[in-house]
Amino acid sequence: MADSRPLLFFDSGVGGLSVMAPARALLPAAPLVYVADSAGFPYGTRSEGEIATRVPALLGRLAERYRPRLIVIACNTASTIALSHVRAALDVPIVGTVPAIKPAAEVSVTRVIGVLGTQATVRQPYVDDLAARFAADCTVLRHGSAELVQLAEAKLRGGAADSAPYRAVLDGLFGQAGGDRIDVIVNACTHFPLVEAELAAAAPHRVRFVDGGPGIARRIAHLTAGQDWPDRPAPGVAVFTAAPDPALVPALATYGLDRVETL
Ligand code: DGL
Repeated sequence: MADSRPLLFFDSGVGGLSVMAPARALLPAAPLVYVADSAGFPYGTRSEGEIATRVPALLGRLAERYRPRLIVIACNTASTIALSHVRAALDVPIVGTVPAIKPAAEVSVTRVIGVLGTQATVRQPYVDDLAARFAADCTVLRHGSAELVQLAEAKLRGGAADSAPYRAVLDGLFGQAGGDRIDVIVNACTHFPLVEAELAAAAPHRVRFVDGGPGIARRIAHLTAGQDWPDRPAPGVAVFTAAPDPALVPALATYGLDRVETL
């Protein structure tokens, strides 16, 4: 029997679209609900306490309203701080998005990896743990940027930016001791794959970028294997916690999100 329960993707803003896109490509029949906590945006400059309280409470309300079969926290900041709290609070499978340090270490030749995230993410012990477990023989340089989150948000609203702000953000990584040897950058904020072309063009030399999106799509497929999907996918729904910005509607439609709601 067709099962219309959606996959629910959650972020502070539009960044989680970079996680939803590979999942949608792999599971085209999946009904999708995409939630941007626009009333709480940005997360990267908030405290651990604020995020650990806000995210489980909000996801509890969302789970009641949309009855998802699975929730993806499509936000590194929320996942590295609140994943265990959300899992403890909700009786729904939860997939988190954490910095893709393991895949980066698998491909780095120079053994110097850059991690670009929000300020909140790059200071998390969760990141120390990933670096120790999966990249112990690498130098892992980190840089937190709130500006890059804003640049990605602006791009999805149709704005164009020149390369100077991207160069300035990357200086924060490449300017560190050993930074000239970085050959892989982990996009450890889900907003950043949305501006990967701009980052690649502004980098001082050729680097590879990795993020969690493709691995998360495979994880969702694994966790939902054997489940039924609707015969025809329902229109995707974009949900905002503050008044939606009409400038985002065209970009949302390109991700199959044709309906817009406010929580
Ligand atoms: N997209 C989010 C992340 O992956 C955070 C952006 C923000 O709200 O600061 O960390």
